[in-house]
Amino acid sequence: MDLQLNGKTAVVTGASRGIGLAVAQTLTEEGVRVVGGARKVTAELEKYSVAAISADLSTTEGITTLFDAAHAELGGIDILINNVGGGDVEQMTLGGFLDIGDEQWDRLFELNLMSAVRATRAALPSLIERRGAIVTISSINAHLPAAGPVGYSEAKAALTSFSKRISEEFGPRGVRVNTVSPGVVGTPLWREPGRFGAKLAEVSGVGHEEFLTALPREFGIASDRITEPEEVGALVAFLVSERAGNILGADYVIDGGTLKVV
Ligand SMILES: NC(=O)c1ccc[n+]([C@@H]2O[C@H](COP(=O)([O-])OP(=O)(O)OC[C@H]3O[C@@H](n4cnc5c(N)ncnc54)[C@H](OP(=O)(O)O)[C@@H]3O)[C@@H](O)[C@H]2O)c1
Repeated sequence: MDLQLNGKTAVVTGASRGIGLAVAQTLTEEGVRVVGGARKVTAELEKYSVAAISADLSTTEGITTLFDAAHAELGGIDILINNVGGGDVEQMTLGGFLDIGDEQWDRLFELNLMSAVRATRAALPSLIERRGAIVTISSINAHLPAAGPVGYSEAKAALTSFSKRISEEFGPRGVRVNTVSPGVVGTPLWREPGRFGAKLAEVSGVGHEEFLTALPREFGIASDRITEPEEVGALVAFLVSERAGNILGADYVIDGGTLKVV
């Protein structure tokens, strides 16, 4: 299927590894000119972008830096992928509600919600002019609050709600806005030592490898495997293409059957 994305332009937040990098790669391979942002630029991001921008996207200044560069490099924006999110594991407490202070709530909301709010504000004038599309990466934790770190699931629920609002306001002006909500995806967040998956294994009292092997069964993943970043990239590319021209305000779950609700 030709997605007819050749020649379009895109901004991808959190694009240096994981899902953001897979989206940047997929879009680049479809002929899109991608500007990607992360705090640390990687060789992979440089490979799959026309400009790789170093910025802390949890801040207003970081979003301004990224979009100033994107406007200068691209001339206009057809596609926005609000991907940045999660949180630095060394700053995250995996306890219960009473263990978590305001700092964690603030950090997680700035990174998972406000980054998308600010990026959307920065991109919308161009997206309206070009009748563009936004895909925001939320999470199944938006539907499963107690399964994620305190503050993370709530920020993702707010993010899904924010995207729905924007889809209703700007759909009539030609901008399609959707969310993609993954379950566990095999990104560095889960697979690299020292990151979230390793920390979760540690607090569960098992080795990292053992934890990852048992994860599909423990999480009730019907397909018996986690999702690969490239699979999220393919879904996102379809959603921003004109092939999905009447899909708007939708939340696409990609989780191998983790969610059990109808
Ligand atoms: N992996 C999963 O299982 C899963 C499931 C559901 C939803 N998600 C969501 O999918 C998105 C991507 O997750 P992932 O698993 O690909 O994460 P990841 O492997 O940890 O990658 C995160 C990306 O965001 C960048 N980033 C993090 N904090 C940043 C900041 N303050 N400013 C700028 N860039 C920042 C990272 O680069 P730097 O560290 O260099 O800045 C990296 O490029 C997140 O929104 C996450 O919540 C993931």
